Amino acid sequence: MNPQTRERLNKILGRIPLHVVIIILCLLWILPTLGLLVTSFRPVQDVNESGWWTVLSERGGNVAYETYCASCHGPAGDALPAADLSDPEFISQYRRSIQISATFNNEYDGEIHIPEDQRPNADELATILTALREGAEGEARPRFWLQNYIDVLAGYRGRLTYAADCEAGNIIPGQRECDFLTDATVSQAAMGRAFINTVIVSVPATLIPIFFAAFAAFAFSWLDFKGRQALFAILVGLQIVPLQMALIPIFRLYVDVGLNGTFLGVWLFHTGFGLPYAIYLTRNFLGSLPMEIFESVYLDGASAWTAFTRLALPLSIPAIASLGIFQFLWVWNDLLVALVFLGGTNPVMTYQIGNMVTSLGAGWHLLTAAAFLSFLVPMIVFFGLQRYFVRGLLGGAIKG
Ligand code: HEC
Repeated sequence: MNPQTRERLNKILGRIPLHVVIIILCLLWILPTLGLLVTSFRPVQDVNESGWWTVLSERGGNVAYETYCASCHGPAGDALPAADLSDPEFISQYRRSIQISATFNNEYDGEIHIPEDQRPNADELATILTALREGAEGEARPRFWLQNYIDVLAGYRGRLTYAADCEAGNIIPGQRECDFLTDATVSQAAMGRAFINTVIVSVPATLIPIFFAAFAAFAFSWLDFKGRQALFAILVGLQIVPLQMALIPIFRLYVDVGLNGTFLGVWLFHTGFGLPYAIYLTRNFLGSLPMEIFESVYLDGASAWTAFTRLALPLSIPAIASLGIFQFLWVWNDLLVALVFLGGTNPVMTYQIGNMVTSLGAGWHLLTAAAFLSFLVPMIVFFGLQRYFVRGLLGGAIKG
């Protein structure tokens, strides 16, 4: 092997650990996301019975039935006329699997129903019962459906799905219209409404701080005024003030001026707490631009306003974009501020997601759909702006 080839080989081999780490990190991130996505499209019965990775394999139930019951009850369940497991009426007596396991000690013609060592365990029995019931009801469920998303958007949490209950007339009048568009956008429990509320909260709460931060950053980096350094130092210091500290004073203030429960109140709060960091980041970026370009603009007789709009703003697009991503993600995912100042009056998505599950943990097929809805937009924003993101982050570090 000549030295050149060896060197190349070394280079390739040397990169392997890095690549392995990157692949592991990607898997750690992608696998749960994929699980969430797949689960959000699965019917509730499937979600309760099996893991999302089994979506493409044979549905359970039959396997367990064949192992434990088919030898006597027959493959179709109708071999014993006195206990016809394929009869809907018969099987509907057994609402819970414990009622079946109670029969295992029965003796029929002197023989015990199922000997102790041949019994299915609780999980297997539950699958068997579900499979029997479904065979009885004769419905072949699809593997994937959109009902979870429809239920979540309409904010529906019933025994059946929104669509099925609407069709069967099971909806309590006055609670829902069974008109999807109305239910999704008007009902206070609907994720559709919450989605709109979150957008209403997030967009201004991102744009307003950036708007002011751009002006302030320009002033801090390129205008000369008294106390500039001191003011900036205070601003940097303000960043460490925890948001929680301000909750009560601002809350009381809002109650006095009637801003509680309004979007304006939340915008102002997010603006107040977003500004110090926003100004700090933009100023660092603007301040790192070469002095000469501003001098030459002023020499040409331009005003500070022209320098700001024509020069500073276009040049700081990467910083503003990455700031925008940060602020947007923060506001979008924020629960605390929205909970305190909006609560149930104008519920946002983070608030509503929690309402999708019961305190006993039921309904998490809806939780997955709700979670996916709420992180769809941040994903789009992130990937849409990521090229600015990287540039903006490095902006302060690399000059030239
Ligand atoms: C060893 C044979 C055998 C196996 C295995 C078996 N069964 Fe049975 N099962 C019987 C017999 C026999 C009866 C009584 C039928 C009758 O009443 O004449 C019965 C009755 C039942 C009944 C009615 C009980 C009652 O008292 O009304 C149910 C429900 C039932 N079986 C469910 C199951 C399920 C579920 C499985 C699989 C987990 C299973 N059986 C496995 C033989 C078996």
